[in-house]
Amino acid sequence: MVSHIYKGIRKVTGLALSYIYTPYTKLIFYLNGVKFSKHLSINGFMKVFVTRRGQVTIGKKLLINSGHNHNIIGRQQKTIFWVEGKLIIGNNVGMSSVAIICNHDIEIGNDVTIGGNTVIYDTDFHSLDSTIRIDKSKDKTNAKKGKVTIKNRVFIGAHSTILKGVTIGENSIIGACSVITKDIPANEIWAGNPAKFIKRVK
Ligand SMILES: CC(C)(COP(=O)(O)OP(=O)(O)OC[C@H]1O[C@@H](n2cnc3c(N)ncnc32)[C@H](O)[C@@H]1OP(=O)(O)O)[C@@H](O)C(=O)NCCC(=O)NCCS
Repeated sequence: MVSHIYKGIRKVTGLALSYIYTPYTKLIFYLNGVKFSKHLSINGFMKVFVTRRGQVTIGKKLLINSGHNHNIIGRQQKTIFWVEGKLIIGNNVGMSSVAIICNHDIEIGNDVTIGGNTVIYDTDFHSLDSTIRIDKSKDKTNAKKGKVTIKNRVFIGAHSTILKGVTIGENSIIGACSVITKDIPANEIWAGNPAKFIKRVK
């Protein structure tokens, strides 16, 4: 009986919140100058930070899940878009608790599925030269960076890390917990740290 009441309250609360998340995120997108279509589905609160230099364009049917009630795979964090460069997200893209840190240029194609807690970085954040790294005024601007491109119909397994300068080819799959340090051709499955070729997609 108590369990039924608990589940009922949970359902009603979840439903009520679902009417808040998407409009709230649209407002945050708008205030950050994000270009987006009407057809967004946002579950849970996310963090959006776009600088004056940053540009974000999002296609139709973006689905974002964040937080305990909407990302059941564990190690939940808010989805984060931190954009100082150019971020383009295509149509019909889904992601859960993903962090996209765009200092330079990130392009995500259509029909892309990005597994929970994946992070995508187009910069090393810090210089590899310690004399520059300890000088906060020079460190960030001297960090290596490179465009990240994720082509159409890619599926990225949970907890993966996509590093600067890589292209993941169309219809390819990245195994869970992989670290992508170099380009992945189309129609292939790669996994591991650093990711290695596993097999062709059937
Ligand atoms: C990559 C993946 C798709 C492969 O699945 P599969 O086709 O069933 O492949 P198999 O399980 O037969 O594994 C094939 C080989 O790859 C290895 N492998 C599979 N996944 C791996 C991973 N994530 N990291 C490292 N190696 C992996 C296996 O150990 C196996 O190696 P072997 O041939 O030396 O024995 C799957 O393992 C995976 O990671 N799925 C992602 C799940 C996920 O994160 N979903 C998103 C949730 S939000």
